[in-house]
Amino acid sequence: MFTPEVLADLNKQETPFYFYHLGLLEQTLYACSEAANPYGFKVHYALKANFNETILRTIAAKGFGADCVSGNEVKLALKMGFKNNEVVFAGVGKSDKEIKEALALDIFCFNVESVEELSIINELAAKQQKKARVAIRINPNVDAKTHQHITTGLEENKFGINTWELNDCVKILHEAKHIELVGIHFHVGSQVRDMDVFKSLCLRVNEFNNWFLDRGFDLKVLNVGGGLGVDYCHPDENSIADFDSYFKVFDQFLERRKGQEVHFELGRALVAGCGALLAKVLYIKKGIKKNFMILDAGMTELLRPALYQAYHKIENLSSTSKNGIKYDVVGPVCESTDTFGKEVLMPESERGDLIAIRTAGAYGEVMASRYNLREPITAVYHQ
Ligand code: LLP
Repeated sequence: MFTPEVLADLNKQETPFYFYHLGLLEQTLYACSEAANPYGFKVHYALKANFNETILRTIAAKGFGADCVSGNEVKLALKMGFKNNEVVFAGVGKSDKEIKEALALDIFCFNVESVEELSIINELAAKQQKKARVAIRINPNVDAKTHQHITTGLEENKFGINTWELNDCVKILHEAKHIELVGIHFHVGSQVRDMDVFKSLCLRVNEFNNWFLDRGFDLKVLNVGGGLGVDYCHPDENSIADFDSYFKVFDQFLERRKGQEVHFELGRALVAGCGALLAKVLYIKKGIKKNFMILDAGMTELLRPALYQAYHKIENLSSTSKNGIKYDVVGPVCESTDTFGKEVLMPESERGDLIAIRTAGAYGEVMASRYNLREPITAVYHQ
């Protein structure tokens, strides 16, 4: 990723910034398509992971659909080249304005997250004399066994419609004239690397697929969401997510009827690896028991470690020292959670060294903030 030519260029840029390796992004997209296409699976890219325009244009050009969670994401997806009939719109709190706009743009489908939302979409579609295509997001009560803050498929989470409310949905669906049920939708959580979780999901999807058929709905689409995880510990050895194993599980365990489409909503697995946050060492502060490495990037540029105690590999791209030292790598923000890593073993470092915080292409740039009135974060691209 950091060849001498790339490094020479990065050293000239003002830090901090996001670095995107577009070649790796393209390889990742290719690997995903190669793994999904033999089964006829359709992947929608979850824009929430990264809505950087260069990234979006690259993904749209490769024929992916778009999974959006706000009206603004829907509009941006279309502007960046995603096709309106390949856009899905999810989220527990879609506003009336967002629903109206998405109806007018004729997107493929709304992933509906509550019984009340279903009635509202019907009313708003009636006003536009349209039929809204919807998928019911069902809470499958499958444990994603991931970090508690990014698990979504349990009954205690706010997402999706619980199974005991499905009869109410069916009642509305039978009566509503401005709604067409195209499918069912699930998402168990994010950063899932245990394929058994997806197997459990498949078995639940099969149950609901049959449940709807018994009630007269021959569903066109099974949308199984996203969540495939990446290897944060070994960004170079495992730079591309295991798409083969992932799609194979769905092929093996999902009982799709003839003509039924299977849709996925992958975010992290497509973009995490190609991005890194680049920062410089401002100061090395020697404590009694600790050494602090203070960077010019902090939680305002990459929130994941502060918010989820997430691990990102940290590398010193400048130091050639053979002397290993443990540092607490921290940012400049006035919060003690503004820490990228504790006791990180690195070559002896000094002011001005270039530091890479790896695997930051997903939920990095998009979660940046201006807290402490920090400068907006910029991006640098390499092929
Ligand atoms: N579909 C739905 C309904 C989702 O809620 C999500 C992610 C995705 C798809 C995409 O999931 P992915 O393939 O990226 O795992 N900010 C957190 C992750 C939040 C994920 C929210 N939902 C993080 O930095 O780890």
